[in-house]
Amino acid sequence: MTNKYNIPQMGFGTFGRTGPEGIAALQFALETGYRHLDTAQSYDTEYECGEALRRSGLPRAEVFVTTKITGVNCARSRLLPSLMKSCETLGVDRVDLTLIHWPVTPGGRLDMPAYLTELAEAQARGLTRLIGVSNFTIADLEEAKTILGPGRIANHQFERHPFLTNQKLVNYCLYNGISVTCYLPLARGVCAGDPVIEAVAKRHVATPHQIALAFSLAQGLIVIPTSGNLERIAENFAARDIRLSTEEIAAIAARNNNARQINPGWSPKWD
Ligand SMILES: NC(=O)c1ccc[n+]([C@@H]2O[C@H](COP(=O)([O-])OP(=O)(O)OC[C@H]3O[C@@H](n4cnc5c(N)ncnc54)[C@H](OP(=O)(O)O)[C@@H]3O)[C@@H](O)[C@H]2O)c1
Repeated sequence: MTNKYNIPQMGFGTFGRTGPEGIAALQFALETGYRHLDTAQSYDTEYECGEALRRSGLPRAEVFVTTKITGVNCARSRLLPSLMKSCETLGVDRVDLTLIHWPVTPGGRLDMPAYLTELAEAQARGLTRLIGVSNFTIADLEEAKTILGPGRIANHQFERHPFLTNQKLVNYCLYNGISVTCYLPLARGVCAGDPVIEAVAKRHVATPHQIALAFSLAQGLIVIPTSGNLERIAENFAARDIRLSTEEIAAIAARNNNARQINPGWSPKWD
């Protein structure tokens, strides 16, 4: 299954993958077959992504690179230069996807018309092939549509896993032609021990974490698990080969208990 923007469904998250160990993990991910790296200005992993990409010897066009604009740069005359700097740190001419990391900061809501207009300008100048958002609510996405017009937001990245399916937001995005990237697709490793997920895993001779990934992949969504452990990097990638039945998908979806893990006090009013 794929999406209309050709974003590889299995991505590699890079939060925490800093320094030489981070580069080694990223290199191993690329060797394993991952062709999508998810970084952000605030992760301090843009250099590591670029370095792993160069060391892999893969053609630039084969690896999809996403970065995210941090709050302080979501302002007029700041976003464009900050994205140029990100490209320089990554060592690429342009990124494939640029996301607005959050619509809010601890200091309050950011000026959406200002940052989205400049994000569109960055796209027009060729600094990014696609543009998108992260941690937006449906109301935020509606406002973005009013500012940019329909069809401009290619991707929305938000928390989604078996214990927070966020299905209303997923459905809104898919209906509006917005591809979905699930962050924390492994719920940070807490799927082990869940009786339903364990039973499905046993049936597929798989691990519960692979089942969590297969669950979102089955709905055509993009996942960006991360690990610093080589075995788990490979294990997660192999989840692509698992085919869940409709009944299994429904049983996993029923485990949803809105257990949101990324929820700072200044978060938007979630859907
Ligand atoms: N847009 C946003 O606001 C936002 C917010 C958060 C995250 N993200 C993105 O999403 C990515 C993923 O999020 P995340 O890293 O927080 O959560 P995650 O991928 O759900 O979980 C990662 C955690 O699970 C463990 N793990 C990985 N594979 C495993 C496996 N097969 N079995 C058991 N445990 C496993 C890892 O530990 P080990 O390293 O020890 O394996 C790590 O502690 C981030 O790297 C980042 O790129 C975006």
